Amino acid sequence: MKKIFAANWKMNKSPNETREFFKHFKQVSMRATGDLIFFPPAICLEAVSAALQGSSIKWGAQNCFSQAFGAFTGENSANVVKELGGTYLLIGHSERRLVFNESDVLISDKVSFAQSLGLVPMLCVGETLEEREFKKTFQVLEMQLEIGLSKADRNKPLVIAYEPVWAIGTGKVAAPVQVAETHTDIFNILKRLGFEGCPIIYGGSVKAENAPLLIKQPHVSGFLVGGASLEPQSFIEISSV
Ligand code: PGA
Repeated sequence: MKKIFAANWKMNKSPNETREFFKHFKQVSMRATGDLIFFPPAICLEAVSAALQGSSIKWGAQNCFSQAFGAFTGENSANVVKELGGTYLLIGHSERRLVFNESDVLISDKVSFAQSLGLVPMLCVGETLEEREFKKTFQVLEMQLEIGLSKADRNKPLVIAYEPVWAIGTGKVAAPVQVAETHTDIFNILKRLGFEGCPIIYGGSVKAENAPLLIKQPHVSGFLVGGASLEPQSFIEISSV
């Protein structure tokens, strides 16, 4: 399976900083051993679209609403992402779930809406530290996947990003054995739900130092990278494992 290296910039970088980043990144991007996908802030999407014109590097938005247009103040339109040339949508990131109270049902609507437009949803799932400590990881992931994918089309592309909430932005990367176990669980849940073969990538404090070991774990098809994707050098090192 082709590897996937995705960058989640969160609420970082301006359009000028975005242009500056790609000036450097495009020179090293050929070192990547898989697909490169960028999720810049919505306000930088036009800058990304222009900077990546004619390039094989893919991009999309970090969030979009589940409807095409209308009275949804402050939301972004997936149709506009498509018009600008984006091909992916990050959906259900834990910061959207926890800070903005997104439910699994809303997330399922976003997944199916993205697919209906021909965009590829990258659905994020993951447990909190408390859920892991109470041995609820499997149950939580099963519910997030069951509901999140309940309206998804099995014949259209889709990517799952497993991101344990306790490993995001904390420097606490999941141990390789935890990644192996959890990705195997997700693989089996996806198989039961009829989404066999869907790539599963890992996210949560991925760095150039831990990437080589993590990529060797079963059912790990790539990474979703936050902090370490903000610099061209560190992101290309991760993407060349
Ligand atoms: P991190 O973020 O790499 O900074 O931990 C990952 C993410 O939130 O997607």
